[in-house]
Amino acid sequence: MTQQAPYSFFITTSKGLEECLAEELKTLGAPATLSHFQGGISCEGTLEMAYRFCLWSRIANRVLLFLKAFDAYTPEALYAGIESIDWSDHMTEDSSFCVDFNLSSSQITHSHYAALKVKDAIVDQFRAKFGARPTVDTFHPDVRINVYLYHNEAHVSIDLAGESLHKRGYRDQSGGDAPLKENLAAGILQLTGFNADTPALVDPMCGSGTLGVEAGWIVQKRAPALNRKYFGFQGWQGHVPSLWRRLVEEANDILIRNPNHCPRIQCYDHNPKMVALATLNAKKAALEGIVHFSQQEFSDCTPIAEQGILVINPPYGERLGDEETLKDLYRLMGDRFKQQFPGWTAYVLAGNLELAKAIHLKPTRRFVLFNGPIECRLLKYEMYQGSGRKTS
Ligand SMILES: C[S@@+](CC[C@H](N)C(=O)[O-])C[C@H]1O[C@@H](n2cnc3c(N)ncnc32)[C@H](O)[C@@H]1O
Repeated sequence: MTQQAPYSFFITTSKGLEECLAEELKTLGAPATLSHFQGGISCEGTLEMAYRFCLWSRIANRVLLFLKAFDAYTPEALYAGIESIDWSDHMTEDSSFCVDFNLSSSQITHSHYAALKVKDAIVDQFRAKFGARPTVDTFHPDVRINVYLYHNEAHVSIDLAGESLHKRGYRDQSGGDAPLKENLAAGILQLTGFNADTPALVDPMCGSGTLGVEAGWIVQKRAPALNRKYFGFQGWQGHVPSLWRRLVEEANDILIRNPNHCPRIQCYDHNPKMVALATLNAKKAALEGIVHFSQQEFSDCTPIAEQGILVINPPYGERLGDEETLKDLYRLMGDRFKQQFPGWTAYVLAGNLELAKAIHLKPTRRFVLFNGPIECRLLKYEMYQGSGRKTS
């Protein structure tokens, strides 16, 4: 291996979720001091720790195993730097591989061309040594190589996840009306403090049901990648199958398929197609009887327990003319929170701050999150028993 344990890792996530990720990684065995960057966290640790991240992280996208950094002002320097890594430590001439190349603020400006240079350097090294070369597979390669070129310094890593960990497999990625990515939904739930002891969780505008399903998996203590078929480490030469199998067995033992006591997780949507889709997704996630879905207008939403968490990802009104209609819905949210939900805490993921003003309650906390490219605020509203709430 180019690098021996302790290994260095960079764990990526969506912008805005870095703090949530750091908290989560610590619960999964990461060291207490972590280096924070935009879009991810770096840390040192063992292969077992990296496997745990791949299996258990609800918030990460990828787990990158760092190999080497070097200056790459020109394509030739990039080629030479890649060639200086012994790739037979990581794959064989019979392996498949692909290169993900991201760059910014560098003299090399074409990521596609740079990825080809990297590929050529690897292929040429194998040909010279073994007279044969690995093939390229961009879908599910044995080894996915990640190169990040920033200020002319190339950071080369192996992508141990292989495919973004937010793809849990319970959801058709195209389904739903602006569905949340699974790791963003998990991050939102972490920020709400939701756990198996929460009395109740209600998502009154559930769409494809991502928040409900992620909540169900938290209650079940299900490792989110337990049933995933493909990881980037499976075809990597450094993979230790016995170690991975042990962690999967451990995760199977921890999983509580039918918890005796669990919060009531109730999701609604006024669109029956969304309710059907969310129900199907929850079934695929093995959450029948744990997460409940039904059709309901938000105006009919009432508390299902004395206390609990309301979590809402309402429409943002991206089309012209939507905004005025949606203002009524946001106004209604504020009214219903204070009139119907004393003792509850509500969280609204607001992608349109003008609309959020129509809620007309004073949030007690605001978290900046990104839903894809849209900068959002997760707004927290605490409704106090008896005294109503804090208003603006
Ligand atoms: C942005 S989507 C939610 C996406 C969801 N978080 C997911 O991951 O799929 C908003 C949802 O609110 C629902 N909705 C809009 N107005 C509603 C209302 N008045 N009552 C109930 N549901 C409503 C829409 O049908 C839509 O599915």
